Amino acid sequence: MTSNKQLLLLPGDGIGPECMAEVRRVADWLDAQGAVTFEIEEDLVGGAAIDAHGTPLADATMDKAMTADATLLGAVGGPKWDDIPFERKPERGLLRLRKEMALYANLRPALCFDALVEASTLKPEVVSGLDILIVRELTGGVYFGEPRGIETLPDGSRRGVNTQVYSDAEIERVARVAFELARKRGGKLCSVEKANVMESGVLWREVVTALGPDYPDVALSHMYADNCAMQLVRAPKQFDVIVTDNLFGDMLSDAAAMLTGSLGMLPSASLGDPDPEGRRRGLYEPVHGSAPDIAGQGKANPLASLLSFAMLLRYSLDLEEEAQLVERAVERVLASGQRTADIAASGSTTVSTREMGDAVLEAVQALAG
Ligand code: IPM
Ligand code: MG
Repeated sequence: MTSNKQLLLLPGDGIGPECMAEVRRVADWLDAQGAVTFEIEEDLVGGAAIDAHGTPLADATMDKAMTADATLLGAVGGPKWDDIPFERKPERGLLRLRKEMALYANLRPALCFDALVEASTLKPEVVSGLDILIVRELTGGVYFGEPRGIETLPDGSRRGVNTQVYSDAEIERVARVAFELARKRGGKLCSVEKANVMESGVLWREVVTALGPDYPDVALSHMYADNCAMQLVRAPKQFDVIVTDNLFGDMLSDAAAMLTGSLGMLPSASLGDPDPEGRRRGLYEPVHGSAPDIAGQGKANPLASLLSFAMLLRYSLDLEEEAQLVERAVERVLASGQRTADIAASGSTTVSTREMGDAVLEAVQALAG
């Protein structure tokens, strides 16, 4: 039976559109095969939406995201919009999507493909075979906490304020997602906070610890965030699943990305509560940014976007086979030696964004063969 899925594509700014174009070709090919059909709509987010509508996310676009089966986002931001007021910056569009769709669990897998072991700045033996998953809380913490702002005091001096705040319910729901995922992977969960200096960290540790007995098959450990940053570059293979707050997750996932060779390789999935069938509506995006310095030049690596699309197929559409098809195609292309500039050894030849997309599409077709 053919199932029809509504996809919303938000290419955004910088290298977002050129990476998204390669995803679109794979989606169109899958659609033509008939096992699943996609109704694909594209819309604006970030700077592109500011230019067209004066806001980083139009209400009509927000409505489409709320009804689509899944949304794939490219990237937002760039120097062109640096000087506009904070509340209307391109990044606010992305944060609004996350918050209003209640996507509290952000999955950021860091997988070192065999073919890319040499592309990492770390020693091959440190990263070879690496397969870790960071689960980042995405709708709370200092990103959204109140009070916030910049205030001018009576003496004319100014104060910038942000608030780190977590309720026990917010901690519990993201921790449960992480426990469930750990259970299906290597059975290890490391919870990361700064309980040595922050009350929100003390509560985080208490709540996660109290959930431990519900998951006797998962080995739970705790680590301070600064130590975790150090351990990630020292011995990253000690980790299986890491669960942490919004800000620590932002930083630790950038560090984890570099273990895999390039920020251009990392996909992510942002998920809310499951529907009765267990599927989760989600927002999928590469972990990399809009890279304005190389935008429009065909130099960008589309693999993080393609791997994000694979996560979309898996988590929101329940299409495990198709998800693996895309992932195996990426692996095959890397094994064949094709490299965009960000993952190429110095001096070796590189392929363009389009050529990388061609290669993945061909590999998908061959593997589906
Ligand atoms: C990320 C990005 C975003 C974040 C920015 C673009 C708002 O760095 O997804 O990691 O800080 O969450
Ligand atoms: Mg980030």
